[in-house]
Parts: sequence; structure tokens; C-alpha cells
Amino acid sequence: MAIVDRKSSARPVPYAMELPDRVPKERYVDPDFFRLEAERLWLRVWQMACRLEEIPQPRDFVEYEILDQSIVVVRTDDMGVRAFQNACRHRGVRVAVGRGTCENGFVCPFHGWRYGPEGANTFVSRKKTFAEHNVQPEDLDLVPVRCEVWGGCAWINLDNDAPALRECVEPAASTLDEWKVESLRTEWWHACRLPVNWKLAIEAFIESYHVVKAHPQLVIPTRHGLRDGASFDPRAFVDADIQYLRAMSEGMAGMVHANDLRIAEGLRDIELPAEPAAATATWNRALNDAVMSWHRDRGADMPDLNELDAHGRNQEFYQCFPHYFVLPMYSSASSYRFRPLGPEETLMEIWSLTRYPEGTEREKPTQPEVWECDDPRWPPIPAQDFSNLPRQQRGLHATGFEYMRLSSGLEGHISNFERTIDGFLAGLPHDALLPAVQSVNVYPFDTPIVDLGI
Ligand code: FES
Ligand SMILES: [Fe+2]
Repeated sequence: MAIVDRKSSARPVPYAMELPDRVPKERYVDPDFFRLEAERLWLRVWQMACRLEEIPQPRDFVEYEILDQSIVVVRTDDMGVRAFQNACRHRGVRVAVGRGTCENGFVCPFHGWRYGPEGANTFVSRKKTFAEHNVQPEDLDLVPVRCEVWGGCAWINLDNDAPALRECVEPAASTLDEWKVESLRTEWWHACRLPVNWKLAIEAFIESYHVVKAHPQLVIPTRHGLRDGASFDPRAFVDADIQYLRAMSEGMAGMVHANDLRIAEGLRDIELPAEPAAATATWNRALNDAVMSWHRDRGADMPDLNELDAHGRNQEFYQCFPHYFVLPMYSSASSYRFRPLGPEETLMEIWSLTRYPEGTEREKPTQPEVWECDDPRWPPIPAQDFSNLPRQQRGLHATGFEYMRLSSGLEGHISNFERTIDGFLAGLPHDALLPAVQSVNVYPFDTPIVDLGI
């Protein structure tokens, strides 16, 4: 077998990450860089296209748009999920718009060609007027798009050579399976238009360096049990942890669910050992147990939080490269998806996910109205992030600003993410890219800069 030198087959990448801890600013503002991403990144990656609860019944469909591409994701009659490109095989009109149920498939509004619910062409009006080579049956169906299901979501990939979805979402996927993310359901779903580049938006959520300054309400000194840096006070520790859970619950509007916060409140007077490590372990276990039994007693599918703790998997942040995130805490989770709308415009969606007793009938989540980033309805924590982001995007335009300088100790994840994007922009083959993708799908996010092998 011929050995391909990956470095020599790589195509040049403008504004590449020459140094792993410096990000050239053009990556966030340059329209040509954005076009390169459209062509070499977004056409080659797995993308979370919809939550399965958006298409619960046969023939329910959702249109997923990424840049100039539109893909229809549909629930099939045998409860599978299929996807196809949203372009009539006659003269290209999009056959589906938005979402709904295609009882009898899709009818093109222009000349009335028809397609079944799985994209097969079923009717060509005045077919005899076409030359035979233009109406070959195998050539008239809507063009299929790879579609796979994981984590309660349908995913699409426009690249037929990409590895299977599962490989591209590991190692996050295995841990999120232990979290039983597939049984989470939408409590609410909001969308925000951010006047910033999509990577800038993501990078505000993948480091905790900003927490002290941007989210001071989350910095609670006694949370780690030491009062005045001296003696350990178990009462102060519990009060501080509950204060933190409340800040996450109200501030993220649901990342810690109100049910779990109430359960924690009910344990406030628990007896704890005097020794810090034993007290922390006792408190964590008692809270895990109480949350698990409350949810299991009402019939919800609940992960074993103590097992997750024991294996270091009780982490609050998981990324699935490039643009999907799950942030689980106790019974519930926040989830994000970021989509570029233009070089300096991004759509960010936020879901609050929780668990319901199995068999509970839930309404299909409805697509959210898009709020501006300064909308007063945003909960405090995203509002704090959203207030910094447009200022940052504007700051990048300063003629004297050339590159972002990253803390290699605290912002390594940003470097790994950006350099993985460079691998795609260089057109590297998928087998070379997979380890880089998986190094972004790690947790927690305070990971160091790693060698991606590309
Ligand atoms: S473009 Fe669809 S039928 Fe003509
Ligand atoms: Fe933040």
C-alpha cells in the first residue's frame, strides 16, 4: 500500500495556527476564511440536525439548514430516521420548508413533482415531454444524506467518506451514554442571534478562566469548605454548595433543575463528619442518592450519579466537535448548538433538558423565536457571556490587534479546537482527522494543549 505523506498532501491554510497558543484574528473576521470553512469543514462533519422528540411520529420532518445547505430529516414509517437534500430534482426548488408532518410526502410547489416521505420520486408531471435521459428512475429521488441517531438526536453528514457518527462523537458519547442523555427531554428551547463569528461564540463556553470575572456569582469561597482559609466548617460548606446550585439553577435557568435544588435544600441539615474530604464525600453521596431516588420513584430513567462520580465522569461539559454541547448536572442538562450565519453572525440555541416519568406524553418542542443577545429575557449567566461577545468581536477589528494569546494552562481546549479546524481546512483525510476530533470531544474543558498528530 502506498504511504501518503499527510503533511505534503495538505493544502495551505490561510491564517493557520502557526503557534498553538496564538489565534490569528482573521480566523474570526475574514470572509475568505469563512468560505473555506463552509467548503472544507461544514461539508465534512457530523452535525446534530434535530432532537428526535421533534419528529416523534412517522412522517414528521424537520428542515436543518447549515449555511447554504438545507437537509430534510424525516421519521420513517418503521420509526427509523432518514435525511435527504432539500432540492427538487427538476429545477432545484426546496420541497420542504420548516417542519411539520408530510402525510403524503412532499409536493414541489413549482411544477408539482412529488416525492414520498422517504424522498423517493413518485410523480413527474407531463413526463413524456422529457427526454429519456432526464427522467431515469434511479436519478429522480431526492439525494440521500447520511443520517444516524445518537444521544436523543438525529445527526447528518454531507460527506459520504466520513467515519461513522459514533467514532466522531467519542469519547464524549460513551460517557454521555452513562449519563443516559437519550432519555432527556426538552423543558425549554431558546435561540439567540449573536453578532460574532461562530468560533468566537463557542470559545466563550469552552474555558472556565472567564468565570471569576464574568460570572462572580459562581465564585463562592466557602464552597470548598475552608472559612478564612483555615478551619473546615461543614455547615458553611453545605450552605455554599447549595448557594452554587441555586446560582446555576436560576442563572442558567435549569442547568441545575429546580427539582434537584429543592432536594438539596431538603438535605441542608444533614450530619457531616468534621474532616473535609469525608464531609465532602458524604454530602455528594447523600445528594446523589436523594436525587436518584426522587427521580426513580416517579418513574424516570436516571443515571447512577455515584458511579459517574467514582469514575471521574461527573463532569459538567461535553463537546461533540464541532458545534454541539451537553452540560449535564444531576438529573438534568443544558445543551447548546452553534451555527454560523455569516462571518460575523451566529445562531446559538440553548436547550434545558430534564427527565420525565417514562411513558409521559410530551408535546413536540416548538422551534424558538430568535432573541437578540441583549434581550432582557436571557437568564443571568448567558446574559453575562452575551454582553462580552459583541464587544470582543468589535475589538478584534482594531488594527493593532493581531492575534489572541491563549493561556496554555487554561485555554488549551480553544487551541485544540482551532487546530482541529485547520486539519479540515488543509483537506486532511478522515483517518488523520479522527484523533484530533476525539481530542476535542474530551472533558473537562480545562484540558492542556495536546499534540493532535496532524
Ligand atoms: S422545480 Fe420542482 S417541479 Fe419543477
Ligand atoms: Fe460563561
